[in-house]
This record gives sequence, C-alpha cells and structure tokens, in this order.
Amino acid sequence: MSNNKVSTSIEGKADLSHAVDKIRVFAPATVANMICGFDILGFAVDHPGDEVKMYKVPTPGVRIRSIEGDDGRLPLDADKNTVSACVKMLLRDLGILDHIGIEIELIKHMPIGSGLGSSSASTVAGLFAINALLGFPLTKDELMPYCVEGERLACGHGHADNVAPALMGGVTLIRGQEDLDVIKLPVPPKLYAGIVFPQVDVPTREARQLIKDKVLLKDAVVQWGNIAGLIAGLFQHDYELIGRSMHDVLIEPTRAILIPEFYEMKRIALENGALSFGISGSGPSVVAITKGEEIARIVTEKIKAHLSARDIESYQYVSNVNVEGPKVLPFND
Ligand code: HSE
Repeated sequence: MSNNKVSTSIEGKADLSHAVDKIRVFAPATVANMICGFDILGFAVDHPGDEVKMYKVPTPGVRIRSIEGDDGRLPLDADKNTVSACVKMLLRDLGILDHIGIEIELIKHMPIGSGLGSSSASTVAGLFAINALLGFPLTKDELMPYCVEGERLACGHGHADNVAPALMGGVTLIRGQEDLDVIKLPVPPKLYAGIVFPQVDVPTREARQLIKDKVLLKDAVVQWGNIAGLIAGLFQHDYELIGRSMHDVLIEPTRAILIPEFYEMKRIALENGALSFGISGSGPSVVAITKGEEIARIVTEKIKAHLSARDIESYQYVSNVNVEGPKVLPFND
C-alpha cells in the first residue's frame, strides 16, 4: 500500500473524542459483473458476508488481533493485511495515524477466492467500522476510494464492482473507473440470487489474466445491448427483460473453462425457471438470477446434487438483493 494520499480534503475531519470505543460491523458479499457488465455492474446479497470487530486502545498504531475463518491464508501484518492497510491509509489522510490506537478482529464467513467479493466485504467492513468509531466523519462516497485501494491491494487491480455494492448496498453501476462515478440502480423487490460455490480455487488475479484485452465489435454490440436492457429492466421492474438481458458473450466463454460442470449447471438453472445464469465475479461461484426465493432454492439444490454426484463439494446461498450495505451489529460479549 502506498503512502500517497487518496484524498487531500479530509484532513482534520475526525473527532477523536467520539464516545464509542468498540464496534462490530457486517459487510455483505457481492456478485460482481452481474453476468453481462464486466467491471461495471454488481449487487450485494444479504448473506454471506464478513465481520470486523474494531477496538480503540490507548497504544497508538493499527494492529490485527486475530483472523477467523481464513484457514491461515491472510496476513496478520497490519501493513500487508488489506483491512488494516486501508484503515491506516484513511487514518493517515485524516491526519491522526500517529495519535490513535486501533485493534482489529476479522471474522470471515465466506471463502477466499470464491468470486463473492470476499476481500471487498472485509475491506468495506473495516473502513465502515473505523469511520463509525470516529463518529462518521466521512460519507460513503468519500470512503469509496479507500475501498477501491483495498481491492487493488488484494488482487492487483482496483475495480470497484465488488466494493461499490458492498458499501452502498443494492445494485451499483460504475460509470467511470478513473474518475470514480458510482450510480445506485433500482432493485426490483423479487430479484433473488441462488449462488453455488463449487470447491475449486479461482484467484481473481489469474481469472483476469485469462481474458483477452480486445473484443470484436459485433460482440461488443451484443454486450452493450444486454447491459442497456438489464438497466432498463431494473428501472421498469421487468423480470423477463432482466432475464433475457443477462447474457455475457465476452468473458463467460473464456472463464467457464475454469469452472467444473459450468454448462450443465447453466442448463439445470434455466430448465428450472431461473431468469438467467452465469459466473459470479471472476468465479468459481455461479449465480442463478430468479424471480422469487423458491426458484432460487430449487435451482441451487439441484445444482448441488449434480455436483455431489460428481464428487464436487459446494456451498450454496440463497439471498434477496441486499439494499442496506454494511451494518453495525451488537456485541454478544
Ligand atoms: N469484475 C471483476 C472480474 C470482479 O470479473 O475480474 C472480480 O472481483
């Protein structure tokens, strides 16, 4: 993580006298790309998600106390861990890094490398938590660049299509990448996601390297027609239009080869009433988009059974689109 400032305009905004000295925050998993919108669309789900417990302590500095649920894969070094590195960056820009002590417990409820925005959920939970501890000096729009820096640290590329919905909730469009321009889109109330995570590891960094950086104009025409159709469908709450628009001709054909049984899972989903089916983020999780919860449950059960019969273990999640984003949870202790 560089020492460069993300924002020069936030120095002096923090209130160190704020009364809260510990906080527990949940941030949701996300389905980036929303099948047809590579790097520009994404939505949050109610579960799974990650949790951060953060404590103000007398000794200055930012430290990781513990990480649960990562099988020892994430660094405890506060400069290398994405959550603490982003917290440090924010405190530096606020001008208080040397004056405050912060300790962090990270509890991961979802697998790393799943295609569900695992690193984004942790980063967003961490940044939301530090902002809350300081009395909310920053708006969500002001927190967003720090979340994107976390994504850059986690996977080598600062795409915002996971962190934006994790922070804002709902469906988000990244209209501009360089000059970050995040737009919240309407969420039709019966829009559900049936997610299946087959137990294979597909790191985002590698899944991105596979993709060609040139596309055919005829494919681009299909893709931007689909993206525009999806957005119109969201505004009109037109589930049928949403379904026929969520097709990816640019990325899916390349990435599908990394996911076992991808085309069989797609057949099962569509034959059982899903509006659409595709890769969640960079995979290997896959997502069936459905109208209502019941179809999402049926589809995920059938896909799980199909994978089990081929000795492929999987996790499954059924969720409405989460419109809230991160939330403060009570402490149990
Ligand atoms: N848009 C990103 C990708 C999401 O597809 O590589 C993964 O985090």
